[in-house]
Amino acid sequence: MAPPQALVVGCGVHATTVLVPCLQYAGVRVAGAVDPDGAAVAAFAATTGARPYPDLAGALADRYDLAVVAAPPHEQGRIVRTLIERSLPVFCEKPGGADAADLARTLALATDCGVPVQVGFMRRYAPPFRVARHAVRRERPLVLQVALAAGPAPDRLYHARDVGVHVVDLARYFLGELALVSAVDSGGGWQCLVQGAGGTGALCLSDQGSWGVASERVWISAPGVTVTVDDYLTVRVSRAGRLVLDDDRPARFPDTGSQLWTPNFTSPRLLNNSLYLQGYLGELDAFLRCLAVGGRPTPGLVDAHAAMSLVETVAKAIDLEP
Ligand SMILES: NC(=O)c1ccc[n+]([C@@H]2O[C@H](COP(=O)([O-])OP(=O)(O)OC[C@H]3O[C@@H](n4cnc5c(N)ncnc54)[C@H](O)[C@@H]3O)[C@@H](O)[C@H]2O)c1
Repeated sequence: MAPPQALVVGCGVHATTVLVPCLQYAGVRVAGAVDPDGAAVAAFAATTGARPYPDLAGALADRYDLAVVAAPPHEQGRIVRTLIERSLPVFCEKPGGADAADLARTLALATDCGVPVQVGFMRRYAPPFRVARHAVRRERPLVLQVALAAGPAPDRLYHARDVGVHVVDLARYFLGELALVSAVDSGGGWQCLVQGAGGTGALCLSDQGSWGVASERVWISAPGVTVTVDDYLTVRVSRAGRLVLDDDRPARFPDTGSQLWTPNFTSPRLLNNSLYLQGYLGELDAFLRCLAVGGRPTPGLVDAHAAMSLVETVAKAIDLEP
């Protein structure tokens, strides 16, 4: 069977370094590429063999099986809606649109047209978070803390919309639909308390960290169990004070026999590959499997819209100005 032909829209850093290797690993042919930046699309075409286009209209004259969007957030809504109108299934990088209103428009159109759209909240497919979720699957209520410090960003509202949505989506992955309880702003970062059907979450975000230095912590507690995931990598599960990763390991997690798991980067197994550990391979694999069986990809526009709406509610509560 011929491999699916993908059209990549936006040929910048993320598409080049993350999406292309993952698509190729998943057996998809990166067949077309759109970017108004002539040098970017030419370089992308030279390394992938994709057919370059300066704009989406030109690309849509040709036939593709799916589209992968990694253009800037303020361009994403318009691009995704154009693709939906052409009935092309879309994987769009987060946040999926400029703001909640933009995402609402796209969601309404995708629902009307029945076109599958997945949004790239890859933490849901990262093995460390899947292990954590598996470990607390029978426990309720949960108390969750997600803290992330990363920057710089053009302004604090942009940062909240671009990075804060990851934090909110991760909380929704554990707790379900969220309502804001309270929010406080320190000037350097903000924290909010949220309530979901699965429990309570404290979400902390700062733009004062650096993408060059890992600074992300997830902590989940329920009666009898505590799970921490540090910087995506170190997973600890303890029950009644005893570290027990082994009992709660889903099938695809390593059989190290240890109580604590970290990847072994000296071994080239897929398990130790950062694209796998960060969830990028898993999310695209899930998208492709959904397309193959006619399923609804997750997380989708409903999730992206919910995450963005909560971020905007927090931003309003603490007067986060651009
Ligand atoms: N999930 C993640 O962990 C993760 C990580 C990095 C980036 N991202 C997301 O990926 C997206 C792209 O980020 P990036 O770092 O690659 O940005 P980038 O600036 O490096 O690349 C964006 C590219 O899109 C192009 N572009 C602009 N307007 C366009 C249009 N109308 N049509 C097609 N292409 C257009 C630009 O010329 C540029 O080459 C953002 O939404 C970002 O939030 C996600």
